[in-house]
Parts: sequence; C-alpha cells; structure tokens
Amino acid sequence: MPLPIDIVILAAGKGTRMHSDRPKVLHELAGKSLLQHVLDTAMSLEPAKICIVYGHGGDMIPRAVPQADVQMVLQEPQLGTGHALQQAMPRLDAGHVTLVLYGDVPLIRGETLLSLLQMALSGKVALLTMLMDEPRGYGRIVRKNGKVAGIVEEKDATPEQRAIHEVNTGIMAVPNRHLPAWLMALKNDNAQGEFYLTDVIALAAEQGVEITTVQPAHHWEVLGVNSKSQLAQLERLYQHEQARRLTERGVTLIDPGRLDVRGELHCGRDVWIDVNCVFEGRVVLGDDVRVGANCVLRDVEVAAGTLIEPFSLLEQAVIGAACRIGPFARIRPGTRLADEVHIGNFVELKNSQVGYNSKINHLSYVGDATVGAKVNIGAGTITCNYDGANKHRTVIEDGAFIGSDTQLVAPVTVGRGATIGAGSTITRDAPGGELTLSRARQTSIAGWQRPVKKIKE
Ligand code: UD1
Ligand code: CA
Repeated sequence: MPLPIDIVILAAGKGTRMHSDRPKVLHELAGKSLLQHVLDTAMSLEPAKICIVYGHGGDMIPRAVPQADVQMVLQEPQLGTGHALQQAMPRLDAGHVTLVLYGDVPLIRGETLLSLLQMALSGKVALLTMLMDEPRGYGRIVRKNGKVAGIVEEKDATPEQRAIHEVNTGIMAVPNRHLPAWLMALKNDNAQGEFYLTDVIALAAEQGVEITTVQPAHHWEVLGVNSKSQLAQLERLYQHEQARRLTERGVTLIDPGRLDVRGELHCGRDVWIDVNCVFEGRVVLGDDVRVGANCVLRDVEVAAGTLIEPFSLLEQAVIGAACRIGPFARIRPGTRLADEVHIGNFVELKNSQVGYNSKINHLSYVGDATVGAKVNIGAGTITCNYDGANKHRTVIEDGAFIGSDTQLVAPVTVGRGATIGAGSTITRDAPGGELTLSRARQTSIAGWQRPVKKIKE
C-alpha cells in the first residue's frame, strides 16, 4: 500500500545563471539529471502520486522523464512557487499530505523527507529549515515566541529579518485539506511580483495550525543548483559522500578526493582502488579486486582477485576471477572472460568470449570471437570480423597457439591445439593439432644493392 502522500516536484523555473539552452533540472550530476536524482528519491518513498511541475524548456522535461506513472503538470507562465503548486492542486488527494520538492535540489535524502512526512501525517505543517552562517538569498524563518510565524523572502525582508540565520530550504510537507484555501489566498504584492508558496506559512500560523521544523542531517542535502559552479561543487560533495560510504565499508581508496561514481558501485571485501577511476552504470567488484589508476569501468562485473592495471577501459563486460587486465586494455560490450585470463596492453576485445587461462597479451584486436581455454594469442593478432557488410565469428579452440601478427579472416575456426605460424593470414579453417601457416617463403638475394641517393646537379 502506498502511503497517503503526494509529491510535487517544482521544476518550471528558468535557471538563467546556468547560461544554457537546456532546462536547469536536466543538467547532470554524477551522470544523472538533477531531476532524476529528485525523482529517484521521491519514488523511494513509495508515494501515492508524483507530479512534476514544468514550464521553461517546453517538452524537454516530459521527454526526459521515462516513468509513465509520473504526472506532468504544465505551469505557463511561471508566476512563482505558490502558483506552481496551484497548477498541481487538482491532481492532489484531499485526504493526503503533499511533499514539495525542488527539481534543482538533488541531494536531499529519503530519511530526511520521511521525518518531515511523519510530522505532516500527524496533521502539522512541516518545514525543512537550516541554520546558515551566510543566509543570503534564502527565505528567512520568522519566529514569534519561538513558534514559526512566517517566511520572508530576502528581497522583502527588513534589515532585522535579514539578520535571521534560520533559512527556508523550500522543502515542506503540508496536509492537503488546507491547501486549496491557502493557495487561493496567495497574493503577489511583493518585491518579485510572484505568488510565493512560502506565504502559506503565515496563513497556517494565523489559523493556529501547528507548524514544525525539521533540520537535515547534512547541509549538502538542501543545497540547490543555480550555476555551473554550484553544480560542480555539488558533484564533488556527492562524490565525497560516495567515497565516504565505500571506505566505511572497507574499500581502500588511495585518494577519496579522486574517485567518480556515476551510478552504483558494489564492492566485496578488500577491494583496492587507485586514483582517478570512473565507475559508471552498475559496477560490481568482487573480493580482493584491484583497480589501477585512471581506469573507466562502465556496467562491468569483475570476479574476485582480478587485477585491472592502469589506463584500462571496460564496458558492458563480465570478467572472471584472478584475471589480469591492462595496462591500456580496452574491453568493449559483450565480452566475457573466464577465470585467470590475461589481457595485456593495447588489446581490444569486443563481443568475445575468452576461456580459462587464455592469454592475449599485446597489441591485438579480438572481436566477435569465441576463444577456448589455455589459448595463447600472440602480439599483433587481428580477427578480421567485418567484410564491409556483415560481421563474422572467429572460433579458436582450446590450447591453440596463434603466432604473432596473424590475421584471422572470419568466419574461420582454428582447431584444438593448432599452431598458427607468425605472420599468417588465415582464410580457411586450420585443423587441430597441426601447424598452419600462410606466408611467402623467406629468400635472400645475393649481391643485392641498396639504392643510393642521387646527387642533384
Ligand atoms: C525559494 C523560496 C525561498 C527558499 C529558496 C530555497 C519561495 C517564494 N522562496 O526561493 O524561501 O529559501 O527557494 O532554495 O518559494 N519554480 C517553479 N515555478 C515558478 C517558480 C519556481 O516551478 O514559477 C521552481 C523552480 O524551478 C525551482 C523552485 O521552484 O525548482 C524554486 O524556485 P526559485 O525561483 O529558485 O526560488 P527561490 O527564489 O530560490
Ligand atoms: Ca533557487
């Protein structure tokens, strides 16, 4: 059963200071749009309904939201945060509580929102506020005898009010039964000529509805993005938090300040990660995995004890246990390595399966190939998988030895235990257990003279 909660995410604002043609909430933090961060947190609360109020940027926002059960509400023109919530009002259930989130405040935690919601579910108006040394730009919480009496926006505040350090984060939870009357009563006779959602607080106070405040555990939870510089600051705060969580669970990060997780990173015990690694999508590292400096791993699973040497790029691949990858390896989508495989420098693998303890140690391209166990592929080997129109497979059976600088023109099979002489171009199947080679016989021309440079007159 979903909780009797409706969530409204305000995302209609312009974001002038981003200097971008994209709506602000579609800019990315840790590889995911600001709006999607808020949406994911909202969904984790399992509310009855989620509405996104959009406006600036036209249908870019609805097109960016894949979840069909999220309701998109157009606010046109954008006349303020109170006006924004008014647009969503008809969608809200009178018996529920509404949680207002901002599309440009991406790091708010579900736990914080739950404590806010608990207050609202018991009939109170719940405000998320924060004490700030430098409160400039924020709405100030005005209290009378300790009780919240209203919120005053910076631009409307008296000098005494500007000296208040308790600020409005903008996030609040309100029992819906009050909302129609309060939103109807909003006026725009203020410095910005907007309908302020924050004015409902004074109305609640006047009507004797209890107002309570909750503070976030971390200040970064309520930081908003208004500029590229703030976006970069939030990205770092987010990454520090990822690093903190990983180290807390026993992962060794050589420098927690030089880690980027853009998705989920799951680590076993005694995982070791050197500097400047980027993890994207869903990455799983087994026990004792070591990742050298400057690696990028995107949607990859790595089994226990594997070593990934510096400057390797792995994408949509499954890597077995006790493998050695890199340095400078490129593992492309569809690759599966069995245990104890060695992939060395300047080796590119694509859509290939490599069996137990096989080695491709130097300068090779192995694409659309099925490689058995205990195969040795020499330096400079190339699977010619593409004929200009179609891709074909190369099969290399167990125990085969491919000499250096071989081209395997697919479709082709190298049999079990076969040996291919170095420098061969293999266009037909090579039988198992035998030496196959295709190269011109070596000859030496006696008395041959090197050309000499002609002297110009
Ligand atoms: C708001 C609060 C302020 C608080 C601050 C915290 C009001 C009047 N003020 O001010 O007390 O300290 O947030 O960051 O609410 N939006 C719409 N439609 C609109 C206007 C805004 O959807 O017509 C959305 C924006 O996209 C944004 C959010 O509402 O996500 C906040 O709007 P913004 O203009 O940034 O409000 P602030 O002036 O910062
Ligand atoms: Ca703002």
